[in-house]
Amino acid sequence: MNRRNFIRTSLAAAGTSLLVGAESTSGLVSTTSPSQQNVPGTIPDSEIRAARFPEGFLWGTATAAFQVEGAWEEDGKGESIWDKFTHTTGKVKGATTADVACDQYHLYPQDMALAKRLNQKSYRFSISWPRIQPAGTGAPNMKGIDHYSRFVDAMLENNLRPFCTIYHWDLPQGLEDRGGWPNRDLAGYYADYAAILAKHLGDRITVWAPFNMPWSFTYMGYGVGAFPPGRSNFGDFLKAAHTVTLAQAAALHSIKAASSKATVGSAYGMCPAYPATDSEADRAAADRYHAMNNVFFLEAAMKGHYPKAFVGEPPYELMGFKPGDEKLMLAPLDWVGFHYYTRRIVSDASHVQAFGGGGFSGTEIEADPSTGRDPYTRFRAVMPTEGPLTESGLEVWPHGIYDLVTGISQEYNHPIIEITESGCGYLDAPYDKENGRVPDARRIEFFREELAELAHAIADGARVRSFHAWSLLDNFEWSNGHTERYGLIYVDYRDQKRTIKDSGLWYGRVAAANRLDV
Ligand code: FCB
Repeated sequence: MNRRNFIRTSLAAAGTSLLVGAESTSGLVSTTSPSQQNVPGTIPDSEIRAARFPEGFLWGTATAAFQVEGAWEEDGKGESIWDKFTHTTGKVKGATTADVACDQYHLYPQDMALAKRLNQKSYRFSISWPRIQPAGTGAPNMKGIDHYSRFVDAMLENNLRPFCTIYHWDLPQGLEDRGGWPNRDLAGYYADYAAILAKHLGDRITVWAPFNMPWSFTYMGYGVGAFPPGRSNFGDFLKAAHTVTLAQAAALHSIKAASSKATVGSAYGMCPAYPATDSEADRAAADRYHAMNNVFFLEAAMKGHYPKAFVGEPPYELMGFKPGDEKLMLAPLDWVGFHYYTRRIVSDASHVQAFGGGGFSGTEIEADPSTGRDPYTRFRAVMPTEGPLTESGLEVWPHGIYDLVTGISQEYNHPIIEITESGCGYLDAPYDKENGRVPDARRIEFFREELAELAHAIADGARVRSFHAWSLLDNFEWSNGHTERYGLIYVDYRDQKRTIKDSGLWYGRVAAANRLDV
């Protein structure tokens, strides 16, 4: 039987997840048929059944403050650039805001108990900078600190390792008013903020990631203007990226000075990049993509220089690079964390005259590949549509995580790796004929195949110690608002009711068993 077509055609039917559940528990559908192989990217069932994860593997989920907390002006919190953006008419699909989001600011005890129920061992969350320093500098707002202190205690009580992302895009508006990330002074302000967190929470948090997806928020915020603050200037992007590099290193030092238990790593967005053709030019373009999008900040931290992301020398002057910055950039990370969602096909654009970078939809898609992306990196990057697409429009390509994990392992001398995010957007909702269950078979299938590939990379020697599914629960998906659902738990935004989806129940069983045929 063709597993994928089977799932697709049964989706409209009430019993979809029951059937899929029967498939996985009884092993009724166990062989890879020729038609199944016709779905590009599909992983054979035999590999999924054979996959094993090491004892002590940290199964987790991830969220971000702005996407789940709500309480946007409570307890002295300042305005963030995302508050301002989402309060501007026309910026968010469906005209929703994150003012309430999942109300996790108040409902965190319930959410942490749910994570425990799903046998989770790690919870990746982020702290909202404007809750700690409402305008971005100065003495901490103790109500904000106290909130996160209680929140971290709730994680520990539920047997969850608190994994803290220090910055997941919600810059205090007060700092944007002072020039935002292109202003080099932000590196110092950011290191002060990180030190405050380490001082007050570092007795219990030992795992810190300075930035979520630094390329994305600098490029989309300053390079093409799809995210706040909505600037479109490549020079501003390059300056912002350099400030973030300096900030990352300064924070590593300030965190370690404030907490002897601290380990510092990363939460980079990464897409494996495959050249469009075998030509030297396309292969070099794919290398530039990898250098710019995947390892720009990692290489800077580990080696104190930028990788070869540009055609020719890096535009140092435009970046605001000063003599001696090599030393300031250096920040040997204790472990390397990155996300995987989908892949890219890259071609050379060194002779292209038009540069736009296009608009963006969602956080992962470059929507307009018709131009070269920018005059410095000079490539075109396209998300292929050879494999099936999720409802959020991303290509499902399970093998990508294998290539990424084994590639980074080789390039960086076998570091400890944390998968900080991965997931898929599907809109499945509670179904009354199934007693209100959420039969999201496609999400189970997505994770089964991807995790089989991850297990394969681990079997081949990669030192991966965790996997964080994006996301614990449906949440506010940036400029896509509530039009995308990535959660293992369904959220009804009318009353904040949480319903564990079938994928959540499945992921909980996986976490308990360390294997996928559960
Ligand atoms: C990632 C972001 C995360 C979420 C997922 C779907 O790029 O880090 O906040 O939006 O995409």
